[in-house]
Amino acid sequence: LEAGCLSIIVLGASGDLAKKKTFPALFNLYRQGFLQSSEVHIFGYARTKISDDDLRNRIIGYLIQGTASEHSEDVSKFLQLINYVSGSYDTEEGFRLLDKEISAYEQLKNSVEGSSRRLFYLALPPSVYPSVCKMIKDYCMNKSDLGGWTRIVVEKPFGKDLDSAEKLSTQIGELFDEPQIYRIDHYLGKELVQNLLVLRFANRFFLPLWNRDNIDSVQIVFREDFGTEGRGGYFDEYGIIRDIIQNHLLQVLCLVAMEKPISLQPERIRDEKVKVLQSVIPIKREEVVLGQYEGYTDDPTVPDNSNTPTFATVILRIHNERWEGVPFILKAGKALNSRKAEIRVQFKEVPGDIFKCQKQGRNEIVIRLQPLEAIYMKLTVKQPGLEMSTVQSELDLSYRQRYQGVTIPEAYERLILDTIRGDQQHFVRRDELKAAWEIFTPLLHGIDKGEFKPTTYKPGSRGPVEADELLERAGYVQTHGY
Ligand code: BG6
Repeated sequence: LEAGCLSIIVLGASGDLAKKKTFPALFNLYRQGFLQSSEVHIFGYARTKISDDDLRNRIIGYLIQGTASEHSEDVSKFLQLINYVSGSYDTEEGFRLLDKEISAYEQLKNSVEGSSRRLFYLALPPSVYPSVCKMIKDYCMNKSDLGGWTRIVVEKPFGKDLDSAEKLSTQIGELFDEPQIYRIDHYLGKELVQNLLVLRFANRFFLPLWNRDNIDSVQIVFREDFGTEGRGGYFDEYGIIRDIIQNHLLQVLCLVAMEKPISLQPERIRDEKVKVLQSVIPIKREEVVLGQYEGYTDDPTVPDNSNTPTFATVILRIHNERWEGVPFILKAGKALNSRKAEIRVQFKEVPGDIFKCQKQGRNEIVIRLQPLEAIYMKLTVKQPGLEMSTVQSELDLSYRQRYQGVTIPEAYERLILDTIRGDQQHFVRRDELKAAWEIFTPLLHGIDKGEFKPTTYKPGSRGPVEADELLERAGYVQTHGY
């Protein structure tokens, strides 16, 4: 990391996201030596009036989760890096105090270079983003004459539709320049999502095949085997399309479908992603299936007559030379039969099949993002033995087997490190965000107005049967085995 003081300020420090994701990610970075310089300090900020030790006690359980006790020394050293400041999100006193604390630490630690870097992580609901950003801008910016920076990390949801997202972008954009704003979509930090560009553009196999002549459909699927679990209030306002599809799955779609960027520079990659989003044609209503699991409205924070989907399958179509006619099927659901996220690229049938093996299934390449990261290809081979018969088999790259002993970093860990390094490749640019909302806003408004009713499905099932029927109509052929 560059030299100079680094202050990481976690706003919303006593909240769920900070406890479960932000602090554990910072701790993992610390353990790997990234935050061990004496010039790094962490500040928690929130409204709750608690002491430094109270905050430390609140997060310690999340830090040691899954971590062997031999790391307990690291835990206590890490906790000593954290101080807590309490204050509101829209009045100056708290932010003045925060600035005083950060400046005092900077003076104490100032490095030879004397520059100071301030990273503000907003683990907060978006309703307070504008006021918090204004307070940071007015009272907490890096003031060193010797260089450094101030950066802001924001979490989704960035708005609820095109207008609200644009409004939020404008408000934040008036205070900070785009290179200072890091919009996190944590799917972009997942190992196999980061592998997509390498897989597609560093392998001769895929280059000539990755198009409408060979690929019949692409599915990007997210399943969870639990419901909204205490987040009903938040979830009901957003629904599965805003929670998962419009951001996480659409980002994955961009990386699967984009053209090769001219270089690996973040801006060049993001340019190509925007082009894909801008080529998506309006969603047809008959290519959408919505579901809501039975019992969803039992949550006291969810209204009894809620129309919010907890499941959706939506087909997107990209109008360009590479993808015309190929359905991109985005599917996400809560309370389903398994927890899995994967990309499934299904190829067309082999023309003039002499083995009569097509019924066994088509060629597929599957990229399993989680759990148990893997890339596998389904192909037809001769059934071993005396007969000339065929069978579907797999070429399988299972990460746990192939890369034994290698720890795959958590998405948040990687993304926070990127923000410190100033690499925006895996963050969502403003024009990307706009294009993503343009795709889904008409559908979302239709749902909000009650023009679509989700079908009920049983928790622990595959979701509504209509979704499988839609897949079939889109030409997807169910395959066996994996
Ligand atoms: C979050 C959603 O963005 O992603 C949650 O708000 C969802 O509803 C979570 O559970 C899934 O993330 P992961 O990394 O567990 O797939």
